[in-house]
Amino acid sequence: MDTTPFIATTAIPIKYTTTWEAPSNIALIKYWGKYEPQLPKNPSLSFTLTSSKTKTKVIFTPHTKNEIDFEFYFHGETKPDFKPKLSKFFDRIHNYIPWIFKYHLEIHSENSFPHSSGIASSASSMAALSLCLTDLEQQLFPEMDQAFFSQKASFLARLGSGSAARSIQGPVTLWGKNEIHKNSSDLFAVPFGTSLNPVFKEYQDTILLVDKGSKSVSSTQGHNLMHGHPFAENRFQQASTNLNALVPIMESGALEDFIHLVELEALSLHAMMLTSSPYFILMQPNTLAIIQKIWEFRKETSVPLCFTLDAGANVHLLYPNQNIEVIHSFIKEELSPYCQNRQYLFDAVGTGAKKV
Ligand code: PMV
Repeated sequence: MDTTPFIATTAIPIKYTTTWEAPSNIALIKYWGKYEPQLPKNPSLSFTLTSSKTKTKVIFTPHTKNEIDFEFYFHGETKPDFKPKLSKFFDRIHNYIPWIFKYHLEIHSENSFPHSSGIASSASSMAALSLCLTDLEQQLFPEMDQAFFSQKASFLARLGSGSAARSIQGPVTLWGKNEIHKNSSDLFAVPFGTSLNPVFKEYQDTILLVDKGSKSVSSTQGHNLMHGHPFAENRFQQASTNLNALVPIMESGALEDFIHLVELEALSLHAMMLTSSPYFILMQPNTLAIIQKIWEFRKETSVPLCFTLDAGANVHLLYPNQNIEVIHSFIKEELSPYCQNRQYLFDAVGTGAKKV
């Protein structure tokens, strides 16, 4: 894969401060399985969210040390345990942003969602930081156009956390080479495009916080267990087939078919976990109880509410904006008892990252 278009040159350093907000995203077609350097084994598609986001400010100060040099603050406090992950990120990306050696970076980051809510922040945080880096690069090289700006930010974010590639733009993005979108790439995510049915631009995502603790198996470990997994090749094929089936549904707005594929993908992701060696289970009894409740509710009411799952026990409830009222009372009365401290977060599909 040719990554040369993403390799910048150096330029005379400038002092610069910038702040970006990047949202989290929730995959409908799941990415699970990768190869170096952070390339997906199958294409994925996600809703970009609105309320669950990371805000990151970077103060770039020129220096003459000729090394990568940064300080990191999370909600105003230094976090030494975050440093190794960031160092690894900079190691992976410095070839593409060689000007980085001429700067000291002061990075300030905060999440909109509660700390330890079980919501992964790697997508939004890597996207927000990558946008700050790309922003400085655009100041250094003003000929960079907006399309390339988004691609480069997604390219860098991907090297931090695969799914972060999908947190730059909205409302729906695709990451991974696929037959349907001719400009798709394994290197960065692209927007779904103008043919998206309007119902999905206002789709709702309520995140039921079933387990707010940290995961017993990280997504890095989970991805690694796809190497040599007996069902891996079939899973990668299934994801591509499901994507090809989902794209026309995203255009037509056929919600019954949407629900079928989205739930199939969520359960297929967790099936890979159940059948890895060593095997593991990230769902909790309450995750299953919620799924049963959703299925009963749908059968009784025909309201198009469905679920998807991330690599964790929390349940994302997906539904059209026009069904908000009935679903909110269902959540409050029937589903909140299965959430830790009855907590859940309202979110919705959004338009992508923003400069603050
Ligand atoms: O970006 P990572 O390495 O945290 O992997 C994300 C994996 C899933 O969230 C389970 C699926 C996805 O496509 O977002």
